Amino acid sequence: MRCRSRIWALSTTTSTSGRLESSGRKPVGPGARFIAFEGVEGAGKSTQIRLVADALRKQGIEPVVTREPGGTRAGEAIRAVALDRDLELDPATELLLMLAARSVFVRQVVRPALEAGRIVLTDRYELSTFAYQGGGRQLPLTDVRELNQLATGGLRPDLSMLLDVDPDRGLARRTRGARDRIEGADLDFHRRVAQTYRELARAEPNVALIDGRGEIEQVFAAVWEALSARFPETFAPRQG
Ligand SMILES: Nc1ncnc2c1ncn2[C@@H]1O[C@H](COP(=O)(O)OP(=O)(O)OP(=O)(O)O)[C@@H](O)[C@H]1O
Ligand SMILES: [Mg+2]
Repeated sequence: MRCRSRIWALSTTTSTSGRLESSGRKPVGPGARFIAFEGVEGAGKSTQIRLVADALRKQGIEPVVTREPGGTRAGEAIRAVALDRDLELDPATELLLMLAARSVFVRQVVRPALEAGRIVLTDRYELSTFAYQGGGRQLPLTDVRELNQLATGGLRPDLSMLLDVDPDRGLARRTRGARDRIEGADLDFHRRVAQTYRELARAEPNVALIDGRGEIEQVFAAVWEALSARFPETFAPRQG
């Protein structure tokens, strides 16, 4: 119940468009949680999502695990364009592609799952856009936020887990093949992204800043602790 009112509150207070749209929206189900994993390339997002999902399954909870851009057929098609190294895209086009993918993602994946009372774990969401297209590509953050509001209808995560590592460390961890269009941007770009993420962690509500530099298990312990501090009824505190 607490969660229901919180998500409603978030989706109705951010702007007029959110308020208008929310009037016809179903409430989220009890137990619904919307959690985003954020951070630079190689920060450990996919690794930590997998560990959180596994731990939930052991408790008998099957989360919805998804990623952005993507998560739907349309979203994956948009992702392919947005990340294609052979395409030259200006920052505004990149932003609009990311937000097009988000719009379909929210409406086809996130909202239905929350209405059904599911836990949604997403690999990236709006902080990525603020950090990459705002900080990295240097688009005006007010424009980015306004367009993001249109794409999401005001739906914000209950909690964003920011896995904080320096971009050099993150990029060095990467083992999989060729870099995509955004990964391939220069190191200054990635440093601006990391810096903007840190600023957002201070300025935005509902962001847990996690030191991502430790061993995988150590980072997971910090992730779980942040989740259980916030939602003890779902993410039971670990013993010992
Ligand atoms: N805490 C850690 N210490 C060392 N290596 C790690 C840690 N976390 C993840 N890795 C390894 O680093 C690589 C990148 O991790 P992962 O894929 O989880 O990052 P990511 O944030 O999802 O990256 P991307 O943005 O590229 O998808 C993987 O090979 C993973 O096993
Ligand atoms: Mg990943």
